[in-house]
Amino acid sequence: MKPKVYITRKIPDDFMAKIKSECDVKVWSEEDIPVPRDILEAEVAEVDGLLCFLTEDIDESIIEKASQLKVISNMAVGYNNIDIEAAKNKRITVTNTPGILTDTTADLTFALLMAASRRIIESNEFLKMGKWKTWSPFQLTGQDVYGATLGIIGMGRIGEALIKRAKGFSMNCIYYNRTRKTHLEEEHDIKFEELDHLLQIADFVCILTPYTPETKNLISERELKLMKSTSILINTARGGIVNEDALYKALTNGEIWAAGLDVFEQEPIDNTHPLMALPNVVALPHIGSATVKTRMKMAELAVDNLLLGVKGLTPNSVIV
Ligand code: NAP
Ligand code: GLV
Repeated sequence: MKPKVYITRKIPDDFMAKIKSECDVKVWSEEDIPVPRDILEAEVAEVDGLLCFLTEDIDESIIEKASQLKVISNMAVGYNNIDIEAAKNKRITVTNTPGILTDTTADLTFALLMAASRRIIESNEFLKMGKWKTWSPFQLTGQDVYGATLGIIGMGRIGEALIKRAKGFSMNCIYYNRTRKTHLEEEHDIKFEELDHLLQIADFVCILTPYTPETKNLISERELKLMKSTSILINTARGGIVNEDALYKALTNGEIWAAGLDVFEQEPIDNTHPLMALPNVVALPHIGSATVKTRMKMAELAVDNLLLGVKGLTPNSVIV
């Protein structure tokens, strides 16, 4: 008998064919809504393998119902959507897709930094809405990227890739991480700073930690007040690391200058959310790794992890 697997989103046909050659597959095929919880619970109870995405909350109660599940393959590097301890207790292997999306996500992080600092979206709308009556010397002036100080919070794979982009703009790079990375300090000429000091001196603050109990609300009212009034906050990690109510206040009170956000506490964020009305917020629908090439690589790795896991073999990128 073939192993049974459930996939919570449609993936390209070639990958489906590969899975079907080895497994009995069921897939949630609605494009616009994630699989409803009751269906997910029922499906997970029946299968040996699950391929899921960051839209699925694989919590303890779902995992409890998984009587024969061997592997949860998450097509994302972040895995805050999965209760890792519960999976570990049931000896279920959990995998993610690290590394292959690093450069693509660093590119998007830098794009947000550029867009927020040089008011790219606002300027585009200004022109297209017919507001450009004449050129004037201080119209739509932004903040310099070249030569500015970039503070990276979370010096992991994407953090390091971001330094390489920043160096091309002669930026001075500083970082905060829970463990100090002296080898990277030498290699890239970057300096470790304690979190509060980084917030006080950086022109740009980029969040690149995972979302964990320790990083929840890492940037809230107190931290935002430490930042310069000209500084720009970029979050391409996870919503929830930055407190959105506090961010709204900081942006409207002039405590910080702008924000670039790819991630939100609730996704999709409602377009009536107060943050969406601010001209100094550049907001994107969680597209950090969204290039065709990278999403194909992520799908390939996630499928390989799933197939190895259902066979009881060790997948390529195991979390537990
Ligand atoms: P990574 O290599 O694991 O890097 C994460 C870094 O954060 C590590 O250096 C880690 O330190 C540090 N860290 C963890 N907890 C911390 C804390 N409490 N305080 C300070 N630093 C802490 O991960 P990555 O591949 O760079 O990805 C980072 C995150 O980006 C992912 O978890 C995901 O949520 C997000 N992401 C978003 C998108 C998107 O589409 N927007 C795409 C990809 C990734 P240690 O070295 O001590 O572990
Ligand atoms: C995307 O957010 C990821 O974690 O891969």
